[in-house]
Formats: sequence, structure tokens, C-alpha cells
Amino acid sequence: MKRTILITGGAGFIGSHVVRLFVRKYPDYRIVNLDKLTYAGNLENLRDIECEPNYRFERGDVCDFERMRSLFRAYDVTGVIHLAAESHVDRSIRDPFTFARTNVMGTLALLEAAREYWDGKWEGRLFYHISTDEVYGALALTDPAGGPQGRGPYGEEFFTERMRYDPHSPYSASKASSDHFVRAYHDTYGMPTLVTNCSNNYGPYQFPEKLIPLFINNIRKCRPLPVYGRGENVRDWLYVEDHARAIDVIFHRGRAGETYNIGGFNEWRNIDIVRLLIRTVDRMLGRPEGASDGLITYVADRKGHDLRYAIDSRKLQRELGWEPSLQFEEGIERTVRWYLENGEWMDRVTSGAYADYYKTMYGAR
Ligand code: NAD
Ligand code: DAU
Repeated sequence: MKRTILITGGAGFIGSHVVRLFVRKYPDYRIVNLDKLTYAGNLENLRDIECEPNYRFERGDVCDFERMRSLFRAYDVTGVIHLAAESHVDRSIRDPFTFARTNVMGTLALLEAAREYWDGKWEGRLFYHISTDEVYGALALTDPAGGPQGRGPYGEEFFTERMRYDPHSPYSASKASSDHFVRAYHDTYGMPTLVTNCSNNYGPYQFPEKLIPLFINNIRKCRPLPVYGRGENVRDWLYVEDHARAIDVIFHRGRAGETYNIGGFNEWRNIDIVRLLIRTVDRMLGRPEGASDGLITYVADRKGHDLRYAIDSRKLQRELGWEPSLQFEEGIERTVRWYLENGEWMDRVTSGAYADYYKTMYGAR
């Protein structure tokens, strides 16, 4: 094996795509997937690669410092791609402690384990931290009735890498804190670290608490679609495999100490996504047009709901030549088809049955 890369959170949504890409593309790397298997971790996401000779799964908690130390030693880890986190904003509003624990203390435990094991020998080492555009706060939203305004369809301003951090939710506050720790390890100890801040991801294997898979499943099952507030909040969407490709490019060619924003210049109002999902699911299920329109249900707004996110990813495009490959409508078409063709995956996630898969595959370990 040429090197061992520790990928944390690899049983989650984005992590599973990153693990799959690295296992397949780099047969001479050993890929160790460390995941606690919280409600969001699902080893069924990795069924197609779990028997590959360059793949290992380790169940563990990033907050467990002794365990992290022993993993570095056992596998001679030279690179880390850190995705493990609590990731859902609504959960963070109900339970901020868990977010501080995993996202802040877990990141710190991993940084310390890396610092101790690498012991100042930084050549060929990299600690790559995956973060979110939510750390930048919210952008102003211009009235879409007035037509395109400024550079984006919904506003003039974009998040750039030089933007001041201004997180609003407990989730984004915890991610902001972890980003600062990662940069502090670079500035204080000289550890080669990198941070990327990405926009909203969508695609296969996303836990159905997030807008797109939740709504696809609800349309499929003719259940209400709870739109927060007036549905006018804007998010910037990126197909998950494009994010995974960006992570690959940045892991191999990004400059240590740098931050890169990742996004596809693809802003959508929530309500327009909901309408697109309804049209797409209904068409694929052979229902008459408009059959599911009545499922839209406006509910109380999310507390502190950020109005608009829009990522400026020109630095990544200019310096490393990465570009998103999919138009949103095409990505949604693929995504809806995947969830409809993989109804069993969705049913096992919503019933909780997926949790047994770990025991079946790995016994009592
Ligand atoms: P996810 O919730 O689907 O997966 C998170 C994974 O981390 C799960 O497998 C879970 O079991 C694991 N995990 C949680 N706590 C852990 C702990 N204490 N120890 C070890 N493993 C633990 O999340 P996701 O949407 O795939 O996001 C992955 C990363 O990308 C997160 O850091 C998130 O902040 C970031 N991110 C997500 C998005 C997005 O749109 N989903 C966008 C930008 C950045
Ligand atoms: O921007 C990147 C972030 O995107 C990631 O860092 C987070 O991990 C990820 O969860 C995501 O955060 P959001 O809060 O933007 O995603 P979510 O899918 O929860 O919500 C998208 C939008 O849809 C948001 O404006 C809230 C709204 N929404 C969401 C749900 C779940 C609804 O209107 N109704 C819903 O039921």
C-alpha cells in the first residue's frame, strides 16, 4: 500500500461517496473508514465496495482520543479527510450539546492524535477538514419579483473565502469553531491542514431528514410536505458526486493552510425545488400532472432560518480547475430516479432496520 487515508464519517451521506470514489480510484491507497454509526451512519451505503481489499471499516467515536491515537499507530495514517459530524440544523436547535461534542471536541481529538503521531514530520501529511458554507452566515435576499438582481438570481453578494465568519445556528457555530481549530493547528504547529466550505449537497444515500430526500419520500407516500415559513429561503445546491470529486482534487493538489469554497453557482428557492420534486416524482410514477400539489403544507419557520446562501467557488475553479459536472435539473432527475428505484433503502432507513446491517457484517466488533 502506498499510503493510508483515514476518512471519518464515511458511512454518512457525503462520506460514503468520498469513500467509494477513493477506494475505486486509488487501489494502492488503504482507505480506513472511521464512523460511530449514529442514526446518520449507514453501512448499507457502502455495500458495493465493502469487500474491496483496500477498504477497512472501524467503528469508533472521533471524541475518543485514545482510540484515535491507536488508529494512527495501527494504520500508519498519513492523510485525514474529516467528515464525521452532526450535520442537521434542526437537530442542533433541539440538542446543541451533541453538536459541540462531536463537531468541536471530536475535531480537536482527531487533530491532537494527528499532531502526536506525525510529531512535526509534516512531509507527505495532510489533515483535510470538510466544512460548510453555513459558517459565513446569511446573505441578503432581494425580491425575486423584480427579476435577476446583481450577480446572482437572488442577490448581489456571495460567500468568498475572505468573508468574516458569522454563524447563526448551533450547527454552524460548532462547524465554525472546528474550522478555527483546524486553522490554529496550521498556524501554531505548522501542521499541513486544509478547510473547504461547501454548499448544500443532494443525491443518493442522503438521510431523509434533509429537504430533498424527505420530500421525495413524502411525495412517493402521499404525505404532507412541511415547507418552513413561506418557502422563500434560498440555498445553493451541488450534486454530491461533484463534491466528492472536488474533495479528491483538493486533497491531492490543494495548498496546505488554504481554504477553498465549493459550490456550483446554483441558487434555488425552497418552494421552487419542492415544485420541481413534485413534477418529477409524479411524472416518474405515472401520476397526472399536479396530483401531489396539495401535499404542500406551510409550517412554522425554522428558528434563526438563514435567508440565502450563495457560494463563490471561483478560487477552486481558477486554481485547481474543478467544475461541477451536472445541471441541477439533470441532478434532480437522477436523484429522484435513484430514490424511487431504491425504495427498499429508504424503507429500511425510515423503519430503522438499516442499523442491523452492522451486526450482520461485522458481528460484535
Ligand atoms: P451525515 O449526517 O450524513 O453523516 C455524518 C456521519 O458522521 C455519519 O456516518 C455518522 O455516523 C458519523 N458520525 C457522527 N458523529 C460521529 C462521531 N462522534 N464519531 C464518528 N463518526 C460520527 O452528514 P453529511 O451530510 O454527509 O455531512 C458530512 C460532512 O460534510 C459534515 O462535516 C458536514 O458538516 C459537511 N457538509 C455537509 C453538507 C451537506 O449538504 N450535507 C454541505 C457542506 C458540508
Ligand atoms: O449549506 C450546507 C448545509 O446544508 C450543510 O452544512 C448541512 O449539513 C446540511 O444539512 C444543509 O443544511 P440546510 O439546513 O440548508 O439543509 P436542509 O435540507 O435541512 O434544509 C434545506 C432548506 O429547506 C432550508 O432552508 C430549510 C428548508 N426545509 C427543510 C426541511 C427539512 C423545509 O422547508 N422543510 C423541511 O422539512
